[in-house]
Amino acid sequence: MNPVAARGLLLPEADFPPSFRWGVATSSYQIEGAVAEDGRTPSIWDTFSRVPGAVAGGDNGDVACDHYHRMPQDVALIKSLGVDTYRFSVAWPRVQPGGRGPVNPAGLAFYDRLTDELLAAGVDPWVTLYHWDLPQELEDAGGWPSRDTAYRFADYAMLVFDKLSDRVDNWTTLNEPWCSAWLGYAIGVHAPGRKDYDASIAAVHHLLLGHGLATQRMRAAATREHTFGITLNTGTADPLTDTETDRAAARRADGMGLRIYLDPLRKGGYPQDMVDDLAARGTAFPVRDGDLAIIATPFDVLGVNFYFGQDFSGTDEQGSLVDEDGHPVVRAVLPDRPRTAMGWPITPERFTQLLVRLHRDYPGLPLVITENGAAFDDVADESGFVTDDDRTAYLAEHLAAVAAAREQGADIRGYFAWSLLDNFEWAEGYAKRFGIVHVDYATQVRTPKQSALWFRDTIARNRA
Ligand code: FCB
Repeated sequence: MNPVAARGLLLPEADFPPSFRWGVATSSYQIEGAVAEDGRTPSIWDTFSRVPGAVAGGDNGDVACDHYHRMPQDVALIKSLGVDTYRFSVAWPRVQPGGRGPVNPAGLAFYDRLTDELLAAGVDPWVTLYHWDLPQELEDAGGWPSRDTAYRFADYAMLVFDKLSDRVDNWTTLNEPWCSAWLGYAIGVHAPGRKDYDASIAAVHHLLLGHGLATQRMRAAATREHTFGITLNTGTADPLTDTETDRAAARRADGMGLRIYLDPLRKGGYPQDMVDDLAARGTAFPVRDGDLAIIATPFDVLGVNFYFGQDFSGTDEQGSLVDEDGHPVVRAVLPDRPRTAMGWPITPERFTQLLVRLHRDYPGLPLVITENGAAFDDVADESGFVTDDDRTAYLAEHLAAVAAAREQGADIRGYFAWSLLDNFEWAEGYAKRFGIVHVDYATQVRTPKQSALWFRDTIARNRA
C-alpha cells in the first residue's frame, strides 16, 4: 500500500498524461566529491568553500555524496524510483581543466559511463552544462563579468556535446543564471563571493551570451534531433500592498529576477524599464552588435525551478523609500505561511500563478519543472528511514499546482523533484536536506524517504 495512504495523510492527487516526464535532479558539485581525481581542477566552489565563514559548518564538496565512486548504485536507485528522466550536471573543471584548452578524456569518461548506465536502466539523461562550478582559472581571468567567459563556455559545451550527443537528447545550457550573477557577483553569498553590482550586470549579459553561443553551436553540429533549453529560477513578485510604491518594487524585483533573462531570450532585448532603472544607477548591460540576436537563438524548452513566491515593498522597515546609497528600496517580504527549514514560505498557489503567467507572457515555449522540492529537519529512524510528511505534502501540493496550471492552458511537459539525494546545499552546507533519499554522510548509505516512495507510487499511478 502507498506509504502515505497507509498513514492516513490526505494529499491532493493530480493527474498527468502518459507522455508527462517524471524525473529527479542533482548537480555535480553538490553530489560528486572526488574533487581532485582524474585531472579535475578546482572550481569557484572549491575555493569559496575554503573562505572562513562562507559556508555553514565550514562544509565543502570534497566528498559530498561520493557519487563519483558510487554512480552505478545511484543509477540503480534512480531506476528503482520509476522515474524516466535524470537531470544531472557536468563539472566543467573535470572535462576541461582550467576552463580552456583540450578535453580531459578521463574526466569526460565519467559522464560517458553515467550516460550509458542511465540508458541501460531505461532512464533518459537530461544534461545541464553549467550548474555553478566555474573553473577557478576562468574566475581569476575575470569570471562571468568578463566577455571571454561566454566564448570559453561555448567551447566547453562543444566538448561535451561532441562526446555525448549521439546518446543524450536533452541539453540545458545554464542552471539559474540569476544565482550566478546576483548571489555570486552582486551580494557575494555564493561563489565567487564578489560584491560588485556593475560586475553582476555584466555577468548577466555574458551568461546569456554564453547560452546563446553554445545553443547555436550545438544546434549547428547536431546530426539528429535534440531538445535545447535553459533553466531559470523563478518565483513570483507580488506587491505587498496595492500602493504605487509597492507595485514599483514588485516590478523591479520581477524585472531583475525574471524579465532581464526571459525578455532577451524570447523577445529579442532587455526590458526597457530595467534598462532605464540601470541607467539611473549609472550602469548598463555591456551589449555589443549582434549579441541580442545570439541570445535570442530559438530554444525548445524552458526549465523552471520553483521554490516559493514573495511579496515586495518599496519602503524599508523605517518607511524610507531609498536605501543608504540613494537607490529605490526593493524589500522582499515573505508571505505569512508555514515555512521549510530554509525559512522559505510554502506557496503552491503562486506556483500555478507563475506557470500560467509564463505561458501567457512568453507563449509558444514548452515548460518542464526542472527543480521543485523542500528542505526539512528530517529525523531518520534506526534503519535510516525518514517519515517526511512535510516534504511529501510539499511535493503533492506543488504537483497539484502544476496540474492546475496545465488545466489553465500552460504547456508543462514534466516535473523533476529536487533532489534525488540529500547533498551539499551551497552556502548552507550539509545542514539542509532536500533529498527524497536520505544520505548518512558517515557511511554514505542511501535510504529512500517516505516522499520517495510516495513519488514512485504517484508516477506509477499516473502511468497506469
Ligand atoms: C536551486 C539550485 C539547486 C539547489 C536548490 C535548493 O537554486 O539550483 O542546486 O540548491 O536551489
